[in-house]
Amino acid sequence: MVVGGGGREHAIIKKLKMNKDVTEIFALPGNGGIASDATCVSIPATDINGIVEFAVKENIDYAVVAPDDPLVLGAVDALEAKGIPCFGPKANAAIIEGSKVFSKNLMKKYGIPTAEYEVFDNMDAALKYLETAPIPTVIKADGLALGKGVIIAQTRQEAVDAVKSMMGDKIFGKSGETLVIEEFLTGPEVSVLSFTDGKTVVPMISSMDHKRIGDNDTGLNTGGMGTIAPNPYYTDSVAKECMETIFLPTINAMNAEGRTFKGCLYFGLMITEKGPKVIEYNCRFGDPETQVVLPLLESDLLTVMQAVTNEKLSETEVNFSDKYACCVIMASNGYPTKYEKGFEINIPAEISDKVYVAGAALKEGKLVTNGGRVLGATEIADSLSEAIKASYGLVEKISFDNAYYRHDIGAKAMKAEVK
Ligand code: AMP
Ligand code: GLY
Repeated sequence: MVVGGGGREHAIIKKLKMNKDVTEIFALPGNGGIASDATCVSIPATDINGIVEFAVKENIDYAVVAPDDPLVLGAVDALEAKGIPCFGPKANAAIIEGSKVFSKNLMKKYGIPTAEYEVFDNMDAALKYLETAPIPTVIKADGLALGKGVIIAQTRQEAVDAVKSMMGDKIFGKSGETLVIEEFLTGPEVSVLSFTDGKTVVPMISSMDHKRIGDNDTGLNTGGMGTIAPNPYYTDSVAKECMETIFLPTINAMNAEGRTFKGCLYFGLMITEKGPKVIEYNCRFGDPETQVVLPLLESDLLTVMQAVTNEKLSETEVNFSDKYACCVIMASNGYPTKYEKGFEINIPAEISDKVYVAGAALKEGKLVTNGGRVLGATEIADSLSEAIKASYGLVEKISFDNAYYRHDIGAKAMKAEVK
């Protein structure tokens, strides 16, 4: 059983299916595209009771909880209480993503490099602090906010407006009642997903997300408009430094707090002039990072996941290909604000195994758009430039009305490689 219904879950399901012992996969709720690879059951990913009831009824052998909200809500705790083995952290460890105040305080306590910060639960105090804070500054809602809870304020006024909208107008509800205001860092960003069973941490191949809606990183932030892997900024020496100063210290810190993390721990890193620093932790696979990372995984995903559950990761091989991957997201024009839905999607059958469907539904047997990010197309090749070209080749073969995509996925990484 895979809980979730986006492109990330589609990538996880396609990989799990490669294991011959996997006879049936249920996706809760899945989506119209996932329906080609799994049995979709219309139980929302946040309906913990519904998920547990279904899992018990169907005698589920193994569960993967992919999105942040069910993890933070305790889906793994509830499933394990019924004897169902799971991949994913318990709620007391998922808090590493669920509360920015928790994760910042954890990093401070254990000396893990991150941006300097202050915490506020009172609007007047936050506004007073902003009178003299260094600008630009970064305002973060404490809780989950659909990936929109971070505002980079380029001016003092923008910072004031951000605090007022989060704490005064409560645009993120309870998530914004407490804020982190932090130092603005600069440098290339790297996403590193890792497998950890609480004892061993195995970083997956690194990747680079493209969060802004427009070419050349312009416009609003999105869930992610495309990814490439590996990330050229993540050199061997950076990787070594990250392992010593960030990855192992984080696993140890969570153990010391009595919050052992088991599952996929995602490190959002910035490679600053003073070395790599943590921008954010996620308690789950990234989306669309997963759509480039898992296609490069050569080992069997289910075996690795079960090794995490059984705390046997150190005895398990986790191998990645030395090739390159690029995923281009096709979205509904207007995303991340307003867009229309219901347009028929055409994906030629011969490329469907390279397409990860996100915002789509089945209507009278036809796949139609049903969300902002509609799908991602991933190609693998021997070089980054070939992978980019090939994934745009896939995009050209896919069509739906009002389709929008960025034209420069991987361009920044190509420039880095030339250096
Ligand atoms: P998040 O939602 O935490 O992934 O943050 C969204 C984006 O905001 C990150 O990918 C970074 O590009 C940017 N960001 C977050 N924190 C900082 C920071 N302290 N300095 C500069 N940029 C940041
Ligand atoms: N692509 C960023 C995330 O999954 O949070």
